[in-house]
Amino acid sequence: MNDITPPTIIAFASPKGGAGKSTSCLSIAGALLKKGYSVHIVDFDQSQALWRWYTTTAAPEAKTNLTAQLPPKEDLPAFIQSLWRHPADVLLLDLPGLLTRDMLHVAAFATLTITPLKLSELDIVEANRLHDQLRDIQTRVHKPIIHRLLVNDVQPLPGAYEYALLDELIQAQLPRFTTLIRHRVAYKEIFGTGLTPHFADRTQPKISKAVDELDHLMAEIEALLADDQSAIQPPTKEAA
Ligand SMILES: Nc1ncnc2c1ncn2[C@@H]1O[C@H](COP(=O)(O)OP(=O)(O)OP(=O)(O)O)[C@@H](O)[C@H]1O
Ligand SMILES: [Mg+2]
Repeated sequence: MNDITPPTIIAFASPKGGAGKSTSCLSIAGALLKKGYSVHIVDFDQSQALWRWYTTTAAPEAKTNLTAQLPPKEDLPAFIQSLWRHPADVLLLDLPGLLTRDMLHVAAFATLTITPLKLSELDIVEANRLHDQLRDIQTRVHKPIIHRLLVNDVQPLPGAYEYALLDELIQAQLPRFTTLIRHRVAYKEIFGTGLTPHFADRTQPKISKAVDELDHLMAEIEALLADDQSAIQPPTKEAA
C-alpha cells in the first residue's frame, strides 16, 4: 500500500486522434509493471479502447499489479482530486483525441503530460498548440506543468521529409523525449495478443527492440521526475 505518498500521475494527451496515446499508455504500463510498480489506468476516452483491452484482451500475466477504470459520468473535478489518494504507485490517464476544456485540465493536473505525435506537419502544429494551451493554464493556476512530446511511429528508414520534420521539432524548441518510438509490429500486437512488449516473447527481435526503446524512454521519464516531489516512488514490490 502506498497511503502516504501520492502517486505519480502521467497523462497521455494529444489534440489529434490516432497519434499513439493508448498504445504508448499500455506500452509504458508494461514497462512500469516489469519494474515492480503498481499501475492504475483511467480510460477517459469514450471509445473505451483501454477499458476493453483490460477487460477482454489483456493476458493475465500482463495484468498483475495493473488495475483500470472508467471515470464517473458526474462530478469529474471531485474524481480528479481523489486520484491523488489512489494507492497505486503510478496512474496513467488516457485522454480522448478531442481535447475538451475538462480534458485539458486533466492534462494540466498530471505530474507529467506526454503527447505522442507522428512525424507529420499537422501533428507538430497540434502538439505546439497543446503546449501553448498548457503553458497558459500553468500561468493561470501557478502550477508547474511538465509536458513532453513523444515522437512515435517513426518508419524504419526515415526519409528526408521525416528528418526535415524532426529538425522542425528541434527548431521549435518543443520539449520532447529524445527516445524515438519506431513503427513496430510489437506495438500493434498489444491489442491482439493482450501482451505489452515487456510481457511478450522477448526472444523475438521484433519484441526485444521495442522493449529496449521503452526502457530507454523509462530512463528518461524517471530522470525527468527524479527532482519532482510527486515523482515515481520506489516499487512496492520486487520486479517480476
Ligand atoms: N509505434 C507504433 N508502431 C506501430 N503501430 C502503432 C504505433 N503507435 C501506434 N500505432 C497504431 O496506430 C493506431 C493508433 O494508435 P492509438 O490507438 O494508440 O492512438 P490514439 O492516439 O490512442 O488514438 P485515439 O485518438 O483514437 O484514441 C493503432 O492502430 C496502433 O496500433
Ligand atoms: Mg486512444
